[in-house]
Amino acid sequence: MPALSIRNVVKRYGAAEVIRSLSFDVSPGEFIVFVGPSGCGKSTLLRMIAGLEDFQAGEVAIDGRVVNGLAPWQRDIAMVFQDYALYPHMSVAANIGFSLKMAGIDRKAVAAKVDRVAQVLQIGHLLDRKPKALSGGQRQRVAIGRAMVRDPKIFLFDEPLSNLDAKLRVDMRAEIKQLHQRLGATMIYVTHDQVEAMTLADRIVVLKEGRIEQIGTPSELYRAPASRFVASFIGSPAMNFVPVEVADGAITLPGGERIPTPSAHAGRASFGIRPEHLSLGGDGPALRGTISLVEPLGADTLVTIASGEERVLARLPGDVAPVPGEVVALTFDPGRGALFSVEGRRV
Ligand SMILES: Nc1ncnc2c1ncn2[C@@H]1O[C@H](COP(=O)(O)OP(=O)(O)OP(=O)(O)O)[C@@H](O)[C@H]1O
Ligand SMILES: [Mg+2]
Repeated sequence: MPALSIRNVVKRYGAAEVIRSLSFDVSPGEFIVFVGPSGCGKSTLLRMIAGLEDFQAGEVAIDGRVVNGLAPWQRDIAMVFQDYALYPHMSVAANIGFSLKMAGIDRKAVAAKVDRVAQVLQIGHLLDRKPKALSGGQRQRVAIGRAMVRDPKIFLFDEPLSNLDAKLRVDMRAEIKQLHQRLGATMIYVTHDQVEAMTLADRIVVLKEGRIEQIGTPSELYRAPASRFVASFIGSPAMNFVPVEVADGAITLPGGERIPTPSAHAGRASFGIRPEHLSLGGDGPALRGTISLVEPLGADTLVTIASGEERVLARLPGDVAPVPGEVVALTFDPGRGALFSVEGRRV
């Protein structure tokens, strides 16, 4: 039985449909990430699952039970928000134990539970402090602890790391992943950061304008994006797209070079190739241009070539030292490329 089942849910604000008849299932223990640009409906969908948002059509079921109409606290879920929403006047221990106390659980049992959770999150030494005396990462841990004490069936996270600095984000990302491995709980996590999505998810749900654009494992989305939208959203730096003509089983690149394709598509199209799949001076077809920018990253060097209006970015090994102004050929294995229609569908 799915841990969570979403069936044809629709959410409107007045005339604006922000979630458009969307369906998917989540297996027990799965880590699902909702990703997509700002305004695509990630938080709205999460809040619908949590019971914080009513909606116009469809069903949400948790462990096979339809929960439409149930209050958030009746749903066996716990949500961690972006701004943590800790009670400022309460200690860390009181914040973590608050929901248990409200549920009438006796003080000793609450304290034992809080201690156990604090140990897992390594905040045992902070239990007497107030939130204002904590760092951002520590506050984040308290917010997660508050969710954990309830042993929810499903954890919901809405951009929990976006208030942290870059270094701490990476650390907390790893901690959330380890927490998931340890607890084995079902987790649903909202982010607009594709790196977080790739590193955390068992499956990613890519949302666009209230619809599912594609759902799949990180590697499926990376290797077989269903649309140009997914191709450009997953992977960093983003996939390059060059305008091509397709006819009689061959793609004509901007330079006039033709490469065979199994695609039956005919006419204008866009050929996608990832920066990491381009090399300097290899075999195979090539995109040619003048080096306009060289960005050394240490292990890798990002090289941008320009040809007329077109820009193509390649991720090359750090030990190559191309020079701006040089005319080069960036070669690729055609099997690594992807062809998209003018409308952006994979063809
Ligand atoms: N209370 C509201 N009234 C009207 N429109 C709303 C309301 N809340 C959200 N919306 C609209 O619904 C759409 C989806 O919003 P949502 O907050 O779910 O986006 P999001 O994907 O979480 O974006 P972000 O990455 O910026 O957090 C947006 O167009 C937003 O303007
Ligand atoms: Mg949001």
